[in-house]
Amino acid sequence: MGNLINEALSMGWMAMALLVGLLIYFQVSISDPVAKKRATFKTFIGIIAAFLMFVAIANYKNNFYGENRLLPVSLVMITATTFMLALYFTNLGALLKIGGFMFFVAAFLSGYGNWLPQVEGGFPPKEEKLDFSSMTPQQLADEGEKIIFGGIGQNKVQGAIGKGQCPLCHAFHQGMLGERAPNLIGLPERAGKERLEDPKYSKGKPAAREYAQKEAFPGSGTAENGQEYIAESHACPSCYVVAGYGVKGTNDKESPMPAIHKPPISLSLPELAAVDTWLYVREGREAPSYEEIIKSYEKFIPEADRPKQQEEKAAGPASALLADGSEPVDQIFAKAQCVSCHTIPGIPGATGTIGPKLEEGTNAPLRIKDKDYKGSAKSTPEYIMESIVDPSAYVVKPFPDNTMPKVFGQKLSAGALKKIVDYLSQVKAGAPPPKIS
Ligand code: HEC
Ligand code: HEC
Repeated sequence: MGNLINEALSMGWMAMALLVGLLIYFQVSISDPVAKKRATFKTFIGIIAAFLMFVAIANYKNNFYGENRLLPVSLVMITATTFMLALYFTNLGALLKIGGFMFFVAAFLSGYGNWLPQVEGGFPPKEEKLDFSSMTPQQLADEGEKIIFGGIGQNKVQGAIGKGQCPLCHAFHQGMLGERAPNLIGLPERAGKERLEDPKYSKGKPAAREYAQKEAFPGSGTAENGQEYIAESHACPSCYVVAGYGVKGTNDKESPMPAIHKPPISLSLPELAAVDTWLYVREGREAPSYEEIIKSYEKFIPEADRPKQQEEKAAGPASALLADGSEPVDQIFAKAQCVSCHTIPGIPGATGTIGPKLEEGTNAPLRIKDKDYKGSAKSTPEYIMESIVDPSAYVVKPFPDNTMPKVFGQKLSAGALKKIVDYLSQVKAGAPPPKIS
């Protein structure tokens, strides 16, 4: 859009220069004094009108993206231009005057809309204070998109990720591969049908379920409808494991997905409601009401486990880091979800099996010596850094490529990366793990 306007503008300036040249040429060639006087006047008006028109377009272009209050100025200029052109092309005069009047009305209305609230609203702008419960479904969905992807409109951006961290594991669009976790497109549809009707789900009968966890907490019951299934998936991933996605060796009885309301992700119930609303709204479906969603979570998350209500805080900016490097290294591993995929000696909870055990003091030298190694690392720390910021530089056998997220180079501070590299360099097979610093 911006480019198009830019090109149109530069062509416009050229065309205008040409026009001015032509007009002056014609005028010089007129010999009758009266006709010459009229021609001079018309040329003058014509040039001013054309000039105003372009200034108007340029102004419109510059203010198009910001919600700028100068926008109506463009409309006023266009109005003036049309009136001037009416003087110039006397035959079309009436038409142009009507057109000009309509522009004037448009300018007045948009000026009214743009100016008034800012002038009259003497209150400081509402910042950071968000009440999820009183939002429209679209507003709530927008907050959900911010929590999942870090910003509105970010859902199609490769590597976009917000505090919910879901894109670390999940794909969200048709055709995208979901190797490490189910693609969440179509979730609202399948949640209430396929999933609940799966004999392995055994709707309403916790005792019959063969999973690591039978229910979220004793007596919490099981999902009765699609929204409850989604709430249960988030609060108690190991209550039902989508076939083929379980932790290796558990026969799909245990899920590698972290409970979303627990640290390090710790989404509050209102935030979870925003996430779920986005999952429905982005498919053009009607989401359950805010109250219904909250109730579904209350069924699976006991009062004591509910993160402090955070509905008043806006989701962090798109650039928010997963870890800033001030944390001890075990927290960095947890916050960045390395622990969900990797077993890391000495790090509590790091028992993942989706990727290799990170004994890099032993592994890294072997990797660099491998005949298939095409990366550029010369030392253990370099190899670890490369594996984190460019996981496809060398793919550890027998793991598939493109499973490890490629976002850590942007989502971890230099300090956090250094702590990770320092720690992993010291982890050796068969030796006691290094101390956490
Ligand atoms: C560390 C990886 C990981 C992260 C992070 C993660 N998930 Fe998952 N998720 C999985 C895996 C693996 C499964 C499949 C196993 C299971 O059913 O629990 C899954 C299952 C699900 C399901 C059930 C899907 C279905 O088709 O039935 C939902 C819903 C879901 N995740 C939502 C989310 C949301 C929303 C987030 C972010 C707030 C998130 N997940 C974060 C790995 C992850
Ligand atoms: C969604 C799962 C997943 C997450 C999250 C993940 N990894 Fe990985 N990682 C893998 C897989 C799979 C491999 C092996 C395939 C490859 O080399 O790309 C791997 C490979 C590695 C290797 C190379 C190991 C070796 O022995 O050569 C390192 C180092 C590593 N990951 C570190 C990390 C760190 C640090 C984090 C967190 C910041 C992290 N990974 C997060 C899945 C993951």
